[in-house]
Amino acid sequence: NWTMEEFISKEINRIQRVIGPTSHVIGAVSGGVDSTVAAKLMHEAIGDRFHAILVDNGVMRLNECQEVEATLNHHLKINLTVVDASEEFLTKLSGVEDPEKKRKIIGNTFIEVFQREAEKLTATHGQAIEYLLQGTLYPDVIESISFKGPSQTIKTHHNVGGLLENMKLKLIEPLRELFKDEVRKLGTLLGIPEDLVWRHPFPGPGIAIRILGEVTPEQVQIARVADHIFIEEIKKAGIYRQISQAFAALIPTRAVGVKGDQRSYEQIIALRAVTTTDFMTADWYDFDAKFLKHVSSRIVNEVSGVCRVLYDVSQKPPGTIEFL
Ligand code: XMP
Repeated sequence: NWTMEEFISKEINRIQRVIGPTSHVIGAVSGGVDSTVAAKLMHEAIGDRFHAILVDNGVMRLNECQEVEATLNHHLKINLTVVDASEEFLTKLSGVEDPEKKRKIIGNTFIEVFQREAEKLTATHGQAIEYLLQGTLYPDVIESISFKGPSQTIKTHHNVGGLLENMKLKLIEPLRELFKDEVRKLGTLLGIPEDLVWRHPFPGPGIAIRILGEVTPEQVQIARVADHIFIEEIKKAGIYRQISQAFAALIPTRAVGVKGDQRSYEQIIALRAVTTTDFMTADWYDFDAKFLKHVSSRIVNEVSGVCRVLYDVSQKPPGTIEFL
């Protein structure tokens, strides 16, 4: 039985012992609470010998890359490299509709980009990077033990096995004994802004798995702006923390509508908001009708290319949280 303050000092000591006085560590950050808390802890322990890398895969949320940079680099002073690989990702995604193919492309491209950056860092420091930081939590450890075998794979989440083998990296996972609520507490104690500590989870393949068809820059823009409006209104209504995850998905089928006095024939946005404790089962969030009306009218008015908004009332199971 330990307090979170004790955990911090014990874990920083352990990291310092494991890494030693000269070795370097890299880690990917996403803007999510787990990778940020892990990065902050590492920064406290070894300072600028920890190198955080943020890969812009072109399918992050609106302005997210700049916000993550501002928080991690400017506010938390973590040594951060932002790699804009959005064109590389979007080029590889062009023409791809299959969800699992999207995931594989994004996962593999991520590993390529990350490895390239790690090699650059190694070259500039004249010394190999020895460790890879991962923000793995206790439930992730359990899940990867119990969900082995391809027959069990419902959705592929990318893994870092390839990086560890190719680059001969060793893994360091300071959060592997913690649950989400403990990581949030830890994040607050480490001075991470509340907004980030309470951020909803966001999948690695990002908006690519929220566009139900081909991922093009135009489609990404539509999905991004609609999502931004939805989340902004959720925050304004003060219900962000009551919801476990919320987002807009783009259904690339056209429906007829009227805009102004013109007939329009445009795409459909589906809104999804769920409450859950473990993300294995989930229920849809019961918004006020007034709220949905307001969000819907903002989206059709402000997002060009959209003339209809639906709200998803599927529970998980059978509907998963994401659409793909
Ligand atoms: P589903 O859609 O399976 O989602 O009900 C459960 C949780 O997992 C997230 N998710 C992913 N996260 N890579 C990720 O990093 C993925 O490919 C992926 N697919 C789903 C989803 O956002 C939800 O929190």
